[in-house]
Amino acid sequence: MMIEPRFPEKDCPLCPRLVAFREDNQAKFPDFFNGPVPSFGGIDAEVLVVGLAPGLKGANCTGRPFTGDYAGDLLYPTLKTFGFARGTYGASIDDGFELVNCRITNAVRCVPPQNKTTAAEEKNCRPFLIDEFKAMKNLKVIVALGSVGHNAVIQTLGFKKSQWKFGHNVRHDLPEGPVLFDSYHCSRYNTNTGRLTEEMFHDVFRSVCQEIA
Ligand code: URA
Repeated sequence: MMIEPRFPEKDCPLCPRLVAFREDNQAKFPDFFNGPVPSFGGIDAEVLVVGLAPGLKGANCTGRPFTGDYAGDLLYPTLKTFGFARGTYGASIDDGFELVNCRITNAVRCVPPQNKTTAAEEKNCRPFLIDEFKAMKNLKVIVALGSVGHNAVIQTLGFKKSQWKFGHNVRHDLPEGPVLFDSYHCSRYNTNTGRLTEEMFHDVFRSVCQEIA
């Protein structure tokens, strides 16, 4: 039997700046989820996607990673194209959309001001990522979205950032660990500036499919 990993409490006190932001948002947007956003997808999955942190009016509102965020509009159809999801993504937690052999989490579980996390917040949230890795007994491939996700994975697994550099669609054969693939984050900024195209994003999931075939 697989056991769900430990997860931050809804009123997690670990990051003072994020707690203050959460309290502001609870006052401003009382109908939003406004808490650490739980991972999405089965704990028995072979693939784990690690994002940065929830978006204010996306995942922090809906309570599901990338759901309602601009980044989800590329991530979820891509997962479906490559067989890692079924249903119709409707940008809400009750859209019935399901992940298949894939789980999604974030390096930092709470929404940060201006979408920017601090090194201390990334460190505070690391124990939850460690638990996630330990709980995913079938884990074969991690996809890190952006350099924050990449560094969180590298440091959580106990490796040095200087020895494992982020690069788009770069495959990292981590010793005794799952294979790590990096992707530029599927954020609005990256897609609008052309740093990440749909084809480039698909290339990463093509690599993932080859890995788990
Ligand atoms: N961006 C992320 O990195 N994660 C989310 O959950 C939403 C947007």
